[in-house]
Amino acid sequence: MKIGRKRVSLLLSALLLASSFYFVPTETAYVQAAKEKENPSAKAFDQKVIARVDAERIYQDIYHLSETIGPRVTGTQEEKQAAEFIKSRLESYGYKIETQEFKIPDQMIGSLTADGKEVDINIPAGSAATPKEGLTLPLFDAKLGKPEDFTAEAVGKIALISRGEFTFQEKVANAAAAGAAGVLIYDNVDQPGPLNPSIGGDTTVPVGGISKASGLALLNDFVPEGKTVTFTVEKLGSATSQNIIATRTPNKGSDHDIVHVSAHFDSVPFAPGANDNASGTSVALELARILKSYPIDKELRFVFVGAEEIGLVGSEYYVSQLSQDEINRSIANFNMDMVGTDWDKATAIFMNAVDGKANLVSDTALATAKRIGTPSELILYQRGSSDHVSFHDAGIPAINFIRREPGTANLEPYYHTPQDTIEHISKERLQEAGELVGASIYSLIGK
Ligand code: BES
Ligand code: ZN
Repeated sequence: MKIGRKRVSLLLSALLLASSFYFVPTETAYVQAAKEKENPSAKAFDQKVIARVDAERIYQDIYHLSETIGPRVTGTQEEKQAAEFIKSRLESYGYKIETQEFKIPDQMIGSLTADGKEVDINIPAGSAATPKEGLTLPLFDAKLGKPEDFTAEAVGKIALISRGEFTFQEKVANAAAAGAAGVLIYDNVDQPGPLNPSIGGDTTVPVGGISKASGLALLNDFVPEGKTVTFTVEKLGSATSQNIIATRTPNKGSDHDIVHVSAHFDSVPFAPGANDNASGTSVALELARILKSYPIDKELRFVFVGAEEIGLVGSEYYVSQLSQDEINRSIANFNMDMVGTDWDKATAIFMNAVDGKANLVSDTALATAKRIGTPSELILYQRGSSDHVSFHDAGIPAINFIRREPGTANLEPYYHTPQDTIEHISKERLQEAGELVGASIYSLIGK
């Protein structure tokens, strides 16, 4: 084999020396291809990472975050407990760690009582508060909440609106414009746990989300007779959240390019968040363990993000604290969010880009997948909705890795429900995500 290669290069050298101008392009391409073949370093780099990805370890970390700690709602003790867990893991790997604490917008907590019974309710950020004693008022059936769904009857009542067709924000705006005193939005699909509507900005009326079953029960039992419900929304001020940042810089030099690896560790209320996003968090922890020991020529930062679920607050804060120089040196953001579902239809790994366009991160992942033979299809897709948005907005090439159903782009049915538990986590898919993202990162930073 060696002799063969030597012969080829001897031949090529002779050709190059003797050749006319026309030969050059073909030969150059040939030489490059031959060089790549001869140079096994990309594959050797891959092996250094993928041989060490341990799905069992990732699974155990997901177990701790989602089962032992449970729902990690932004600003709560459980979110802080998760941050502490991540920090101690990273410390045990020997990283330099920064805890970045930041204020979060005032959180709203609420309750809904109907016939003396508590109805599970989510209050979105931005909702107005009620008086302390709450609103005790009859309901108005506002159907989908279109402007024409409201009559004079709606004035001073709590509008009961179905999810669907257009945004929660528009529904709330229409209800407020029609003079409703409050808004309850009920789900249009059967899901355990109340709906968690995000309504964009601040509203003038109190807003809550409830399940389809709760909504239909109110519609049938309360609306016809004009029975009242009691709805309270209270503001919880001065709560904080935090990002945990682990950094590794090359031994020599300064001014290195920076690769940011991010995953949020908070969850929505009522959801243990095993897939969203203990999965991405735990894969990132595993990559931190593996990548701790290898020589690198770029700066590596693991950013464990809090307060994602209330509107990307943690990642926006992280990016806001980067200097212009750090932003200029930032070449990539690998964001992992929901990479471990066992839902059988989520056969593809979507690479969500805010602008839907290929960038260094998606190109690197595609090349890596080809080399290592990633079993799942990789699909470049236009979507925000996770922390890659904050990096993208700062001009950093960013991709969110997430499992979805090809064609429909559907997420698993457990998303943002109490069923997002460890039972629906696939070790094979954790392994796949760890290998793909880990080998991709290492192909950029390894030396
Ligand atoms: N992990 C989810 C969902 C997600 C990410 C959905 C990427 C689709 C693509 C994320 O935590 C989430 O729920 N995001 C919110 C928006 C966010 C700005 C609060 C969403 O999609 O509703
Ligand atoms: Zn998420």
